[in-house]
Amino acid sequence: HRLPELLRAMPKAELHIHIEGSLEPELIFALAQRNHVGLAYPSIEALRAAYAFTDLQSFLDIYYAGASVLLTQEDFHDMAWAYLTKAAAENVLHAEIFFDPQTHTARGVSMGTVIQGLKRAVDRAQAELGISAALILCFLRHLSEEDALQTLEAAVPYRGHFIGVGLDSSERGHPPEKFARVYARCRELGLRLVAHAGEEGPPEYIRNALDVLKVERIDHGVRCVEDPALVQRLARERVPLTVCPLSNVKLCVFGTMAEHNLGQLLAAGLVATVNSDDPAYFGGYLNQNYLDTFAALPQLDAGHAYTLARNSFEASFASDADKARWI
Ligand code: ADE
Ligand code: ZN
Repeated sequence: HRLPELLRAMPKAELHIHIEGSLEPELIFALAQRNHVGLAYPSIEALRAAYAFTDLQSFLDIYYAGASVLLTQEDFHDMAWAYLTKAAAENVLHAEIFFDPQTHTARGVSMGTVIQGLKRAVDRAQAELGISAALILCFLRHLSEEDALQTLEAAVPYRGHFIGVGLDSSERGHPPEKFARVYARCRELGLRLVAHAGEEGPPEYIRNALDVLKVERIDHGVRCVEDPALVQRLARERVPLTVCPLSNVKLCVFGTMAEHNLGQLLAAGLVATVNSDDPAYFGGYLNQNYLDTFAALPQLDAGHAYTLARNSFEASFASDADKARWI
């Protein structure tokens, strides 16, 4: 029982959390009532019972439906504040938070409402909880590159409120190279770059995220092990992978946690990190991800816990001064 205590108590960073995926059923129903939005489920229990996923798409359908209750700055603030208070209680010192603006602007919510509401929670968390946080704008890859370019331009007035961009939603059939032009524009703007790759998609998507989009981290990336030359490259170049173990099991990327390849990734010398992805949907926040992974993979010990925590700070986009304080 000393390892679980260490996992809970150790200082850590979270680098892969979709803020819309932190929306708990209780808050979905509260916001639906506050905003007079209708829901397809009669109760909190009925909604939670629908959280049985067979793949990424089966999750995304219900995740986008849940996000439909978000309308005002206060809604975005309240969602992010709920996540940040939980993260602070789990000894998360720093969080880099994804948000999906197209999910909201497509419903008539303005970019300013989304970003300013989230930013208020980020600033409040620094002041009241002492937790540092930053926002990463994600493009939905099932939509067109033209839509992503328009989304980026709508966000330019709020350039100071987010540190980078990511790429998420349905991976298969929507390869990184579809977004080459918008990532080039993001590089010109000095934004930090990440992308989901190798969650359900093949190792080639990881290569093209690096070579075409020029991302600095890979979100998920667990399918890299199918390509040994790619694993060697990721290790040599110290490209971080933001691995999400509970997500991978809930979305059937691995049949069980005992089959997860996190131990293999660490043994190969990769800069792997542990993250929660969509904690309200996948059965737990960051510490639950550490606890369940270490319980299922007997080769992981206190040394690996330390490596994962150090990796989370090293792989973050925090300043060198902050990293020096944390590591
Ligand atoms: N959006 C929210 N969670 C996601 C995931 N795990 N993969 C792709 N898109 C997502
Ligand atoms: Zn994700």
